[in-house]
Amino acid sequence: MCGIVGYVGFRPVLPVILDGLKKLEYRGYDSAGIVLFGQDLSIVKKQGKIARLEQELAGMQLEGQMGIGHTRWATHGVPSDENAHPHLDCSGRLALVHNGIIENYLELKTDLLESGHHFRSETDTEVIVHLVEEKLKTRPSLLEAVLAAAADLHGSFALAIASQQYPGRIVAVRRESPLVLGLGQGENFLASDIPALLPYTKDIVILSNNQVAELTREAVRVFSMDGQELQPEPVRIDWDARLAEKGGFEHFMLKEIHEQPQVIKDTLVGHIDLVNQQILLPELPDEILSKIRQISITACGTAFHAGICGKTWIEEWAGVPVEVEIASEFRYRQRPFLPDSLAVVISQSGETADTLAALRRFKEMGMPVFAITNTFGSSVTRESDWVLTTKAGPEIAVASTKAYSTQILSLLLLALRLAQIKGSQPPERLQEITRELQRLPLLCDQVLQLESRVQEYAYRLRTLDDYFILGRGLDYATSLEGALKLKEISYVHCEAYAAGELKHGPLALITAGKQVCLLATQNELLAKVASNLKEVKARGAEVLVLAGTNGSVGLEGDEIWQLPATFDLFSPLLAIIPLQLFAYYMAKEKGCDIDQPRNLAKSVTVE
Ligand code: AGP
Repeated sequence: MCGIVGYVGFRPVLPVILDGLKKLEYRGYDSAGIVLFGQDLSIVKKQGKIARLEQELAGMQLEGQMGIGHTRWATHGVPSDENAHPHLDCSGRLALVHNGIIENYLELKTDLLESGHHFRSETDTEVIVHLVEEKLKTRPSLLEAVLAAAADLHGSFALAIASQQYPGRIVAVRRESPLVLGLGQGENFLASDIPALLPYTKDIVILSNNQVAELTREAVRVFSMDGQELQPEPVRIDWDARLAEKGGFEHFMLKEIHEQPQVIKDTLVGHIDLVNQQILLPELPDEILSKIRQISITACGTAFHAGICGKTWIEEWAGVPVEVEIASEFRYRQRPFLPDSLAVVISQSGETADTLAALRRFKEMGMPVFAITNTFGSSVTRESDWVLTTKAGPEIAVASTKAYSTQILSLLLLALRLAQIKGSQPPERLQEITRELQRLPLLCDQVLQLESRVQEYAYRLRTLDDYFILGRGLDYATSLEGALKLKEISYVHCEAYAAGELKHGPLALITAGKQVCLLATQNELLAKVASNLKEVKARGAEVLVLAGTNGSVGLEGDEIWQLPATFDLFSPLLAIIPLQLFAYYMAKEKGCDIDQPRNLAKSVTVE
């Protein structure tokens, strides 16, 4: 996610802005820029790290009492100097930075071009600064022009904007993307997150959705979108800087587990036709989707498990055969493909060596490649024919959580879009599913309420050294990912197994006291799962049942975690959350290095 820092006050502005941006580096970025307001407006922006920006700034005689800085996480327009923020209006006197996604930027850009505005970048952001410029022609103040512009914007945005025409004044807007205000004496601050403000003030106002702030040296004023002045209560932050980077969570992994409702909501943006209750997939042309006869998915680790989940959805809902193969296996195999096959590569980082090699094998075989990735501008995005960039935002913890959720959500969108185009499901059934899909963020929030139950369970099992997770159908995919989480951060050996396969061998490992998790979210498989429960209980196992809509009907688990009622097909998006939390709290009990587990790297760029 992008980082924003703004300052108006008596200090030398440059160090305040640069130090603030460095405190936000953990959010991930690919470019950085800054605008200072003094006698003149000075703007410097560069692709790459903040150090490159500092090199560019070295030796410049820049002064000013006000400034705005930005670190960009690219979503529209490749990482480049030109696409970096801040962006200027036509007059060159108005500067703006943005964090979020403007869904209707193309139609706004068309209107602005017709009104004579000229654009310098490929970004959605630049539309906003020209829109404010346009509104300023008929509004008496910067604040009112920004309010008018915000009313025309669809999507998520945190904005900071200032103009030479209105010296000593920064206007900021929050809709979905976070913004916090720092209150000082004769100075005031704004930022995307608290760490950037803590060196100067602990008195914070956290802007709520659809609020606008106007900052001067003397005052911070907050308004609703219709211009009503509000009196938000400041809070005093007692976090230290490290804790603040994690939003108050002890580890990035826990923060990212809790971000899942929001990133699912963000990833759904632009993928649901709210009028016709249909799925949209603008990233992949319909003429491609309508011709597909087979899909071949390849990835590594968690992303591979996402592919396993996607296979079940695509085959059962769209009737298209899907193969899923580990990238490090696929890249060395000779194998035939049917004509009209689509290759799908999944990668959070977009830089995993084996996945990239597999992508290049697909290209050598002349197959079109659709990428699902979290990192815009990565090698995978550059080398694929079509790209769906999930909105998980930078994932700092090595253990993938929110990236996984948005990967499987993207595969579910692909399955449902294919079903719509191929007519493989009754339209009214798809509309019903699409309506329920919009409740997903709320359902994920409900699942997170299990956290204290999970923590207690982890405490009871803290001396555990091996564990089984069993599932059938969609639950099997979830069991694979749940097992990987437990292995990679708590170092507990965990076997994920297709529940029906147990009696073909692994049942020999089930003895008295063995700890087993049995996923039971698929109603049509419940009777079979009940028999699996009996077979492990008969050997003395202690069983946690992760129950779906029908609850634990007939399932006498020793511990039962109930998921909220919804369609069975959504269970992978819900059932993974308690398993992520279980892995986290087991690792905590064992004193493991949760965000940086031994031997592992966040992006495996070597074979
Ligand atoms: C999962 O928790 C791990 N971080 C790892 O398995 C990861 O999913 C795998 O290395 C693939 O990475 P990618 O998604 O960046 O390609």
